[in-house]
Amino acid sequence: MDHDTFEFGPVPTGWMWGTATAAHQIEGGNVGNDWWDFEHTPGSGTRESSGDACDSWNRWREDLALVRAAGLEAYRFSIEWSRIEPAEGEFSIAALEHYREMLLAAHAMGLRTAVTFHHFTTPRWLAAQGGWANPIVVERFARFVDIAAQHLGDQIDLACTINEPNVVTHAGYVGGIFPPGRPGDLDGFRASSLHMRAAHEAAREALRRGPGDFPIGLTLALPDTVLHEDGSRESAGVRVSDLGPDGPRGELGWLTAGQYLETARDDDFIGIQTYFTEHVDAAGELLPVPPGERVTQMGWPFTPEALGRSVLLASRVAGVPVIVTENGVATEDDAERIEYYTRSLRSLREAMDAGADVRGFFAWSLLDNFEWAMGFEPAFGLVAVDPVSFARSPKPSAAWLGRVAAASRRS
Ligand code: NOJ
Repeated sequence: MDHDTFEFGPVPTGWMWGTATAAHQIEGGNVGNDWWDFEHTPGSGTRESSGDACDSWNRWREDLALVRAAGLEAYRFSIEWSRIEPAEGEFSIAALEHYREMLLAAHAMGLRTAVTFHHFTTPRWLAAQGGWANPIVVERFARFVDIAAQHLGDQIDLACTINEPNVVTHAGYVGGIFPPGRPGDLDGFRASSLHMRAAHEAAREALRRGPGDFPIGLTLALPDTVLHEDGSRESAGVRVSDLGPDGPRGELGWLTAGQYLETARDDDFIGIQTYFTEHVDAAGELLPVPPGERVTQMGWPFTPEALGRSVLLASRVAGVPVIVTENGVATEDDAERIEYYTRSLRSLREAMDAGADVRGFFAWSLLDNFEWAMGFEPAFGLVAVDPVSFARSPKPSAAWLGRVAAASRRS
């Protein structure tokens, strides 16, 4: 494929070409949250501890410079609640200052900042009280967001309240592969989902009070779901242009993602995070990936065109601007990563041509990092990180994406 000559074409004013990370996956030493405890619980299924991760708590300046050097113009990262509020009601000015320094430095380098307030981790003191299943979480989260925004709001260009509420609740209470590790706890799943939605709305209100004036939204995991009523996969390969107003959706994915898409109607944007196409039967059960199909290091089907289809669906249902807050592939082969982005971006353009109002694209991820229960093996990064020295080595895909961004600004 013509990856070297790939052109995305013109982008609307205000568009952001960026890359994304999350605190627990890169900072290292995040000892005060539920994930740290989960990683250290025998039998939790987590492959290894996050440990020092990429040591970005100390190396953040270098990381910002890497985003800039790649030719990208925006950086999405999360602030770690357990560092900012290590004990209930006790806020760390030093931690807030750390993030403020980061935001100021990003702006000084000419980067725009996208801040996520909750990216999968919850302070230990709150997890001990039942975490997201306990209704008090709504007020506690809104208070944290409010206090963080008082310190940081004037330096924020885009706010993501909660990252993938549909994943964190499902993985924690249905699959059990995330904390609190309670497979099959459907009451916990329902309660935490309701509280995530309410917490997002309360956080949105707090952020709208200022300081700062920036778009506010949540980010949603939205696989492209193909429904096979008869349980076969023969009819796969739906194109964006074939997508009806409701789209082919598996009910399971729809029930969980759909409520957040509806919530997003009152937001300023919806963050979409699509990695693959999944196939479900009439009951909403996932159909297995057929043997021999190309998969990534995550075991996910290699289906970059999923992005455009999910974006178009989200745009039609939520009715607000879409920002691709994550998209990428876990692979050791960087040429394969470039192929993935070429194809996912081409499908994104197709969605835009079909009417989706899209305002930006963030590659997941800046660095090879701690991929939750899967540990450090899956390599999503534009930049490799040596596990011992923490030395960063940009891969060809970093400069490739920068060139795509530069060309789109010229066109
Ligand atoms: C979505 C999550 O937000 C991120 O933390 C994770 O690493 C990527 N997907 C890849 O699984």
